[in-house]
Amino acid sequence: MNSKISFILDGKITYIDFNPANGLTPTTTVLNYLRKFPNHKGVKEGCAEGDCGACTVALGEPARHRSGGVENDRIRYKAVDSCLIFLPMLHGKQLITIENLKSADGKLHPVQQSMVEEYGSQCGFCTPGIVMAMFELYKEHPNPSRAQIDDAITGNLCRCTGYRPIVDAASHACTHNGVDHFNTDEPRIIEMLKSIPSESILIKTKNQQYFRPATMEEVLLLKQKYPDAIVLGGATDVALRVTKGHELLTELIDISGIADLKIVNETHSELAIGAGVVMNEVRKSVEKNFPALHQMLNVFASNQIRNVATLGGNLGTASPIGDALPVLMAYGSKVELQSVNGKREVSLNDYFTGYRKTLRKPDELIASIILPKQPNGVIVKSYKVSKRKDLDISTLSAGFSLDLDKGVVKSIILAYGGMAVTTKRASITENFLIGKLWERETVEEAMQMIDKDFTPISDVRGSAEFRMAAARNLLIKFWQETNTK
Ligand SMILES: Cc1cc2nc3c(=O)[nH]c(=O)nc-3n(C[C@H](O)[C@H](O)[C@H](O)COP(=O)(O)OP(=O)(O)OC[C@H]3O[C@@H](n4cnc5c(N)ncnc54)[C@H](O)[C@@H]3O)c2cc1C
Ligand code: FES
Ligand code: FES
Repeated sequence: MNSKISFILDGKITYIDFNPANGLTPTTTVLNYLRKFPNHKGVKEGCAEGDCGACTVALGEPARHRSGGVENDRIRYKAVDSCLIFLPMLHGKQLITIENLKSADGKLHPVQQSMVEEYGSQCGFCTPGIVMAMFELYKEHPNPSRAQIDDAITGNLCRCTGYRPIVDAASHACTHNGVDHFNTDEPRIIEMLKSIPSESILIKTKNQQYFRPATMEEVLLLKQKYPDAIVLGGATDVALRVTKGHELLTELIDISGIADLKIVNETHSELAIGAGVVMNEVRKSVEKNFPALHQMLNVFASNQIRNVATLGGNLGTASPIGDALPVLMAYGSKVELQSVNGKREVSLNDYFTGYRKTLRKPDELIASIILPKQPNGVIVKSYKVSKRKDLDISTLSAGFSLDLDKGVVKSIILAYGGMAVTTKRASITENFLIGKLWERETVEEAMQMIDKDFTPISDVRGSAEFRMAAARNLLIKFWQETNTK
């Protein structure tokens, strides 16, 4: 087993051997690593929790098909928050910072040049992060729409410029024919990426053990041997324990390199999404058949976070405000759990057993999430109530499903997040509605039943009274959106 990681930085392969002399640990973030170098100080720390985007860098890795296979001749570039990425997660990838964008003869990259020409920067603190977010747009979405530009920079906070010149800069720089004439180094980088073996890595320091297995078999054996080890999907949740909680995480199993967990498998009756599929890929996969989940993922965190955060991680947090959970429940989804002893499927309805508690056994991993395709006529909607549209934590959220038979409720699912210690269905209200006419008077009566289903708490995001009122109002909104009369 290897103890070193390899990745590409400044156009060459860089190795890190973790030892006390270089002051690096397996939970050192990429941001803190880069800030040690005089030639990589463009990356900035604003918040160290994924909210400001000042630390945005790009990662390049061989593009993958949905079936999991690697596309041979293309690098997929992603903007990510370097403050939330642990160093070993770089293994086998290209790390690109603001300093790497200009050409060898010092010419600014088109996105940099455009920011200059459009006056997109004032104090400049946020500028490198914004440029790196635009770099992904330039590479991956030539000719972006206004919505795509806005989406690309939702994870970047700028306090002084105002977004109009930034949006103009993105629009000018990224409007091109899809061929990158500026950067001609890609074929060489692809060959270098291919030369890095996807082998298992174990980093052992005095206080920490960090496993980065290469196969699913190894993951399951490690989970059996170290049931208390922290599993890392994208680490967007776990990394905060280090950057904000200053915790020493002693045992980690990083599953971000496991190809088997990144597969999306579609049949005529269901869509199975591997637990390691990142939210931006989930968003693409569900657009056609699961629009309510797609809509929820449009307001999930930011592009940088969605580029690394996984669906398995959203379930793994078992957070009562995990945004994917109510709408997954509304679709009647199942969780596939796997251990060395095999696989089992559990309905999401039964999965959560208490505050951050689930049916998952310590030696089990979330392997995939299975969404059944909905019969004709079933309507599913999702709602997120938060103080801002983008990059905000839900005060409450909901996923509702309705099947009517001649105007009468045949079946209904009303799943709420942020109203109890787990994502939970309003089963008393559901039972009241079943068999009744789907009309305003009945729904208004049902709105009063929600009191019997939930006793929400007050916290910084909203009072108990607000939550209850919003939960009721979402129900009447759902009625209005589904009322065909
Ligand atoms: C700035 C910011 C904004 C955010 N916005 C949102 C938002 O809008 N909505 C929202 O719901 N969340 C949000 N989050 C929270 C977080 O990004 C999501 O919950 C995300 O889906 C976590 O995925 P991950 O892969 O990064 O999880 P990780 O941090 O890797 O893991 C989270 C937990 O799940 C466990 N885990 C991960 N994968 C597995 C697996 N396969 N099997 C078993 N356990 C596993 C881990 O051990 C850990 O306990 C935000 C976070 C940040 C930092
Ligand atoms: S420092 Fe703010 S997102 Fe990383
Ligand atoms: S230019 Fe000052 S914060 Fe953006």
